Amino acid sequence: MTTQTATQTDLAVSGPRFDGRALRDAFGSFATGVTIVTTAGPGGVDIGLTANSFSSVSLDPPMVLWSLARTSLNMDAFRNSGHFAVHILSADQEALSGRFASKGIDRFEGLAVDRGPDGIPMLPNCMARFACKLAYQYEGGDHVIFVGEIVDFSHSAQKPLVFHGGRYGMLLPKQSVASADEFSNLSADDLLYQVSNAYFRTRKTVIEKLESHQWTAEEYAVLSIIGREDGLCMPEIVARSEKVRGQGISATIVQKLIVQGLLHEVDSGDGQITVRLTPEGRRSVLELIAIRKSSEADVQGLLDPSEVQLLKHLLARLDA
Ligand SMILES: Cc1cc2nc3c(=O)[nH]c(=O)nc-3n(C[C@H](O)[C@H](O)[C@H](O)COP(=O)(O)O)c2cc1C
Repeated sequence: MTTQTATQTDLAVSGPRFDGRALRDAFGSFATGVTIVTTAGPGGVDIGLTANSFSSVSLDPPMVLWSLARTSLNMDAFRNSGHFAVHILSADQEALSGRFASKGIDRFEGLAVDRGPDGIPMLPNCMARFACKLAYQYEGGDHVIFVGEIVDFSHSAQKPLVFHGGRYGMLLPKQSVASADEFSNLSADDLLYQVSNAYFRTRKTVIEKLESHQWTAEEYAVLSIIGREDGLCMPEIVARSEKVRGQGISATIVQKLIVQGLLHEVDSGDGQITVRLTPEGRRSVLELIAIRKSSEADVQGLLDPSEVQLLKHLLARLDA
């Protein structure tokens, strides 16, 4: 396959003029993945930029394309290089995308790269990676379209980074809608049903871990509330526990922790009695924080990091 340069069509030269912002917005309504395209410049210097204009073209022969703005500082390098590599980014590579779209920095600084044909830099740990031989270049208005024949590729199952409407996003596969059962008021497809199920399931993980260390959920609640803000009076403890647990705390639990030497009552001078942590109580709070962190890691381990981020975002919206 040889490299060819097609000429710009008359339509592209004399086509209708649109409002640039509106056209950009209309283009941006097409959701894409995000890639980094790399090549080797003069003297073997590493070159790369973020691009979402990538598209697969042909299976046989295997071909892809992407387009580069004429304003790019790297136009000559891509036009004159015999090879380029396209890297499809995963959901956790947003920072890498930002880096390869930034001007005035060494985009490759500190990155360990593999080498492809002609010594082109190949970034590791991407979702998919295509090493391509430059096959065609087409004039495409204010962009140049590069078509490459794939000479090597690799692929791993990860979640893709998405770009839509000028913002990064993550892919959320659509759930197949369960057939509506008009006789059931408690559908397993209900949001409420799923949120409460998830709540009880994840809470069970924490409670089991607490119990294995001889703590109850109530003791944990009291100590973590007081640990966050040392020196609370009883009504404040009850109010806070109602907010975080949906139910209050009985004074008996607080008394029990006082007897155990983990809490003590202090007269704050204005007739108010506040409950505070003893040094032993502080040590217990540290132990409870460790249990909490380990339970958090267990629950997060059930999801991908990008799913954790998405779930936190959605739950925060339900809590608003
Ligand atoms: C998500 C995203 C997609 C982009 N897609 C393209 C693209 O397809 N083609 C392009 O020329 N620039 C694209 N850019 C812009 C370039 O990455 C950016 O202008 C870069 O600074 C160009 O670098 P250069 O002038 O060093 O080549 C994109 C930027 C982002 C953040």
